[in-house]
Amino acid sequence: MPQLEKKIRDKSAKVGIVGLGYVGLPLAVAFSQAGFKVLGFDSQQKRVDSVNKGRSYIVDVGSERLSAAIANNLLEATTDQSRLKEVDAICICVPTPLTRTKEPDLSYVIYESEEISKHLQPGQLVVLESTTYPGTTSEVVLPILERTGLKGGQDFYLAYSPERVDPGSKNYNIGNTPKVVGGIDSRSTRLAELLYNQVAEVVVPVSSPEVAEMTKIFENVFRSVNIALVNELTKLCEKMGISVWEVIDAAASKPFGYMPFYPGPGIGGHCIPLDPYYLANKAREYDFHTRFIELAADINEQMPYYVASRIMEALNASGKSLNGARVLVLGVAYKKDVEDVRESPSVKLIQLLREKGASLSYNDPYVGRIQIAEDILTSVELADELLSLADCVVIATDHSCYDWERIASQSKLIFDTRGATKGLRHSNIIRM
Ligand SMILES: NC(=O)c1ccc[n+]([C@@H]2O[C@H](COP(=O)([O-])OP(=O)(O)OC[C@H]3O[C@@H](n4cnc5c(N)ncnc54)[C@H](O)[C@@H]3O)[C@@H](O)[C@H]2O)c1
Repeated sequence: MPQLEKKIRDKSAKVGIVGLGYVGLPLAVAFSQAGFKVLGFDSQQKRVDSVNKGRSYIVDVGSERLSAAIANNLLEATTDQSRLKEVDAICICVPTPLTRTKEPDLSYVIYESEEISKHLQPGQLVVLESTTYPGTTSEVVLPILERTGLKGGQDFYLAYSPERVDPGSKNYNIGNTPKVVGGIDSRSTRLAELLYNQVAEVVVPVSSPEVAEMTKIFENVFRSVNIALVNELTKLCEKMGISVWEVIDAAASKPFGYMPFYPGPGIGGHCIPLDPYYLANKAREYDFHTRFIELAADINEQMPYYVASRIMEALNASGKSLNGARVLVLGVAYKKDVEDVRESPSVKLIQLLREKGASLSYNDPYVGRIQIAEDILTSVELADELLSLADCVVIATDHSCYDWERIASQSKLIFDTRGATKGLRHSNIIRM
């Protein structure tokens, strides 16, 4: 039995989590709650200080859970990567963004692999969690780690295990979301499976890192394509005078063979808008064009433009031009009940409306300030007077805390991109 297996079983293994963001911080807290000593690494001193003071900056991690882990001496954060040698297992949760031309940017993964290789210890398990194209673990991370002279699967272990976190979800967390793991060899898979079994009820081992990498991207492509499908249907329904929201609810009554996806002003977050491009790009190496991915991205990326033109029409119908109209946008986070504005379609929408001359303000209980092109906008208080003064109130993100009845009764005109007002009968509401 490898030494590490014994240490995981008796919980004496120390777990290193690199990148304490949306993925890494909840994972660090989960391992410490399972009784493991955790050393968290982040390149931002501010985040490290915050963790060590027990102050959470991630919506899914309550400060009380974080401070309990710190107080129990089970969690510590540092910027000092030389301390990687202290840990038995390393989970890499660093960003995998795109370049400006939408090419995969693996610079964080490469940089971190190089850091790990400087301190790699025999017997350590390294797991990449960052979303990436199939082949990254074996073709990019493994060769960097093997430059040390240590051999993967023999002197150290290496696996890929995608994070499936659904930020803001009340139902799913690390514990009850099955975790897929694929190692470069059977021992790596077995060790990674054992490790994640300490925090997740179900672990699904697969035969290789490539299968695990492809699984994660497939899940995100699946969402992107289905959202695009319903976005396209929304445009047709509008032309035909049919409520897409009623259609979706009716279709969802079918107990098999259908699952509902909902239209919106576009897609956002760190996953769905970006990850499919990782696969589309890799596919070209095989003279293969992933047409569904491109088509879905095209439809979804057009949605803010579509919404802007529908708002213009709605204002026009009430005798107003968008140029000079007072528009109040509700919600700038990319989805409800989170504070994350990465790739948020609201940002694009606000930018488009401002370019057309609208006088823009926004409210978001989770996002106090937001950068739009060169300007910083600040969230305004949702006073009755503000609602009644606006020529159009746009529901861009349907945060649960909004009182739609109050908003509808105070506003002149509402454009609802999320079906948030489905249950209301006010004549001033236009639904997408
Ligand atoms: N956010 C999600 O919902 C989600 C879900 C599943 C998978 N993912 C994937 O997980 C990965 C991480 O995403 P995230 O949302 O947690 O990103 P994030 O930006 O919230 O966190 C990444 C953290 O890594 C830190 N960092 C960057 N380089 C570092 C380095 N070399 N050493 C130490 N720290 C470093 C950053 O300072 C940041 O705190 C990405 O690949 C993403 O695609 C994200």
